[in-house]
Amino acid sequence: MKKGLFITVEGIEGAGKSTAIQSVSEALNKTGTEHIITREPGGTPLAEDIRHLLLKPRDEEVSSDTELLLMYACRSQLINTVINPALSRGIHVVSDRFNDASFAYQGGGRDISLDFIKLLDKWVLHDLKPQLTLLLDLPVEIGLTRASKRGNKDRIEQETLVFFEKVRTSYLERAANEPDRFVIIDATEPPQKVRKDILSAIETLIKKYS
Ligand code: TMP
Repeated sequence: MKKGLFITVEGIEGAGKSTAIQSVSEALNKTGTEHIITREPGGTPLAEDIRHLLLKPRDEEVSSDTELLLMYACRSQLINTVINPALSRGIHVVSDRFNDASFAYQGGGRDISLDFIKLLDKWVLHDLKPQLTLLLDLPVEIGLTRASKRGNKDRIEQETLVFFEKVRTSYLERAANEPDRFVIIDATEPPQKVRKDILSAIETLIKKYS
């Protein structure tokens, strides 16, 4: 049986991932193949519990390594119990964030050596790799202003402008290094244009793998 396609959606806070995922879903619905939508950190009952631990604001300082390891603990659970089983059954999987977020946030934002992240990545992902990653890109100030309208900030959302600048730069560097996998979407464009760009990226992907 042909494996499902794995699509991930990335971007800094306020980039519009939720709306983008609706557009991905709309495009996939036209293909007649089943798909599921999941998210990171989270996506399984255990991983959602870890998500809560990760994002809850707390007085205790959270070490960068702890944060990274918890992200990969979530990822391992999601891959083994949700993503891989679905892909093997021919079901497409769309994930709101995946491993690029660890390279961008823990690598770029927290300055953890990319070599350490690559080690974890190899261990936890094995050969799993998204066929398409949509990177919703926009200036940090615009993203954070949009995100601040959503109410209470979680632990990571409370980070500084400089932190998110580093996250954005890391995302863009990864995209530049893997142009075949990444499609950069200009998230400052009007919603209809963003939707059109996403539909077109999914159509291209489906053609490529049909
Ligand atoms: P979300 O609110 O966009 O779902 O993501 C939760 C937060 O987790 C967001 O600030 C990005 C962060 N994150 C990381 O720092 N590293 C990761 O590997 C992932 C998946 C998310």
